[in-house]
Amino acid sequence: MRRPPRIVLTYPIHARAISEELSPHARVTIARTRAELLRSLRDADALITRVFDRVDEKLLDLAPKLRAVGNYGVGVDNIDLRACARRGVRVANTPDVLTRATAELTVALLFAAARRFPEGEALCRSGRFRGWQPDLLLGQELQGRRAVLVGKGRIGRETGRLFRALGLKVEWITRKDTPGMVQKKLKRAQVLSLHIPLTSETLGWLDESRLALLPPEAIVLNTTRGPVVDESALVRVLKERKIFAAGLDVFEKEPEIPLALRRLPNVVLSPHLGSATAEAREAMARLVISGVLSILGGKRPWNEVNPNETSC
Ligand code: DGY
Repeated sequence: MRRPPRIVLTYPIHARAISEELSPHARVTIARTRAELLRSLRDADALITRVFDRVDEKLLDLAPKLRAVGNYGVGVDNIDLRACARRGVRVANTPDVLTRATAELTVALLFAAARRFPEGEALCRSGRFRGWQPDLLLGQELQGRRAVLVGKGRIGRETGRLFRALGLKVEWITRKDTPGMVQKKLKRAQVLSLHIPLTSETLGWLDESRLALLPPEAIVLNTTRGPVVDESALVRVLKERKIFAAGLDVFEKEPEIPLALRRLPNVVLSPHLGSATAEAREAMARLVISGVLSILGGKRPWNEVNPNETSC
């Protein structure tokens, strides 16, 4: 009888999913430290990673038997897909099941930024709230405002649907837009929400020159990856009140959040919580496990990542 495959996880992603879906079919190792990970890779048929665990040539060199990588997340910018493809290592991720959770978090950030939650909360917690005032912390009503979403993948489309349900006018910037069209859309973006994966082409997409096109009432939202925004340029426009506010779930050098950003009153911050609902995280665990087991079983799962394409 053939021995079950060795599957290494960099984190015990979801106890029930592991015991129900993975342990019956595999020898499971949870590598809690980098040293443990490097040791256990020698013998690994598959590896399940979190979105910030780097899978590069160096790591692959240590894993001669590896046939599958499962990323517990939809973004695969932590994985060198071409290096994997060259070695016949196939990759699966967790699209779809986190789409709604991430879109809902984007809406939460939008409301919080538009209604100045950080300032209101700080005031309440400080004990200095002196009662209702006609001009206290006036925010923006969202109905009828124009939202421009960058990226029309699953999360971009779902966020657009939710924005429309709130009465916003929605349009997208996609790869098909000419530079002129992008400029035009940015100039009218009262809400600008980013939903593009991080690749060499999207690195620093929202840079100083694009930020300068936004109207003064604009709210910038980022729930994809920090490095698609030039964070220092964003801090400058927020500080100089050239835009109204920002809602950020991701950061350029995560988990580091620069002091200059943390000090700004007109920014809402959340610690990479896009898919952080109990429902999404369980579904992600089951999906990544089934993707990896299918690959090891010689099948082609629907959530296998095409090395030439990445989308949210
Ligand atoms: C993803 O899936 O890429 C998210 O960032 C993890 O929540």
